[in-house]
Amino acid sequence: MKIVEKIGDDVSIIALPSEKILIGDYIVIEDKEQNGELVVQICDERYLDHPSMVEDMVRDEVMKASANGVESDPLQINTISHLIRDIRLLKCKIRGSVNGDRFTSNVSWLPSRVKARIRKMPTSELMRLAGQSGSREIVMGEAGDKEMLHIFAESLDGQLNVITGRKESGKSHLAKLLATELVKYGAYVFIFDLNNEYGGLAWNRDGSPSTTADKSVILSPGNSLVFSLKYLGLSSIVGLLRHTLDIPGASLREFIRMWKHLEAQGSLSMRSLGDFIQTSRCNEFIRDALYSRFHTMLSSGLFSDEKSLKIEDIFSQLKNGGLVLISLGRVSPLIRRMIVELFLGKLVELLEKRVIPPLFRFAEEAHLYIRETYWDDIVTRMRHFGIFTTFITNQPDAIGDEIFRQVDNIFLFNFTNDTDLEKLARVTMIDTETVKSMVRTLPQRTCLTLGKVVANLPIVVKVSQTDALTLGETRLFFDSKEEVYPVQKSS
Ligand SMILES: Nc1ncnc2c1ncn2[C@@H]1O[C@H](COP(=O)(O)OP(=O)(O)OP(=O)(O)O)[C@@H](O)[C@H]1O
Ligand SMILES: [Mg+2]
Repeated sequence: MKIVEKIGDDVSIIALPSEKILIGDYIVIEDKEQNGELVVQICDERYLDHPSMVEDMVRDEVMKASANGVESDPLQINTISHLIRDIRLLKCKIRGSVNGDRFTSNVSWLPSRVKARIRKMPTSELMRLAGQSGSREIVMGEAGDKEMLHIFAESLDGQLNVITGRKESGKSHLAKLLATELVKYGAYVFIFDLNNEYGGLAWNRDGSPSTTADKSVILSPGNSLVFSLKYLGLSSIVGLLRHTLDIPGASLREFIRMWKHLEAQGSLSMRSLGDFIQTSRCNEFIRDALYSRFHTMLSSGLFSDEKSLKIEDIFSQLKNGGLVLISLGRVSPLIRRMIVELFLGKLVELLEKRVIPPLFRFAEEAHLYIRETYWDDIVTRMRHFGIFTTFITNQPDAIGDEIFRQVDNIFLFNFTNDTDLEKLARVTMIDTETVKSMVRTLPQRTCLTLGKVVANLPIVVKVSQTDALTLGETRLFFDSKEEVYPVQKSS
């Protein structure tokens, strides 16, 4: 390999076809005289373009087509000329330099074209020099040539993360991998499971219980996910009525009055609340507005007078960390939003009172159930109290620019759509060209990892397989030919 040119922070290097170098690999340009090592990353590759080479190739093709004879090439000139035609031009970006045993992003010297030695840099060495640190190791996948990338659970702690990529690219799989590893280290992970696909984490592929089996709790609406009014408290219910059920101000005031009255009597329950609303002598419009909201709450199946889920009990049951799955798959969008509103409200309250420890939360396609005004809250207030969110989405434009700019770690899977790439290039922490050229060519299940987890050096990782059952396949029509549905059975 040799340097051809350097313009700004772009370096071009020529490499023989036999040299095993891939897009995303890191290269060190070592210059003894300058006493330093320049670290560059390959962002794109192309053929060495030269008019005379193209002319040669055209001449060759024409000759072959017109004179179909035996080729004699005793000096093997053709082989060399073919080799030259296949030489690759690697387009690289300077990421920093190594001085002694320290990585700095500061580069103020130009390596010699003649004397510089160029070699591939192993990911582990790069991460060590860049200062990746922690003690809770997570093997994320393969980076480069048969080398595994380790990240540390500490660099996910307290951070805001985004996993994005096009459909079926492997986003949920990575989320499952990270969630299980965090749980193994004793963390609490809450997952808003939109497609009911995370339940499989409790099982291995061979059907045996997985390592997280006895640390998982599945909460499904109408079953284990029921709350009593007493447990939720006035502020949670007011939040629900205001933000999800759009109650008018006057009705809300009346509701608060009723609540306080029932609470003082010691008879706060859904049943007494319903009776109270119906028999109250307030304005008819207010009563109707209250009763319609009450009816929505009643039919959601999320409220009960007999039993109530206590979120803090989950923590005392699972002393060494746990996976809490909130199934949102089989309920209407309104109930989904109600669950999320109640859950987040209560979690924040418990965290504020320091009753429970900080927790990680994974949210798939959060724009479908998190109200707009919550987004800012998530990155500021909730994070401050100890809810560390990972958004998983195939629509990056569903996440606002202001949220993206505060993201600490981004796991970027393949995107080919120009609009999505534009958006990502604008908001991610690295240069536009890297995002556009690298992300477009990423194979399935491979992601470009950016942020603190990789010490702010972009790394391409082929995400590992996991032992756990990851479910998540889209249900297909032609796969289920054998199955006969009730509607198809003859009577
Ligand atoms: N690294 C991997 N190793 C093995 N299997 C994988 C890997 N990544 C993804 N898969 C499998 O590929 C399929 C699609 O992956 P996944 O469900 O994670 O994609 P997705 O990006 O979440 O898709 P969607 O946008 O539809 O939610 C799944 O069956 C999953 O088990
Ligand atoms: Mg998915």
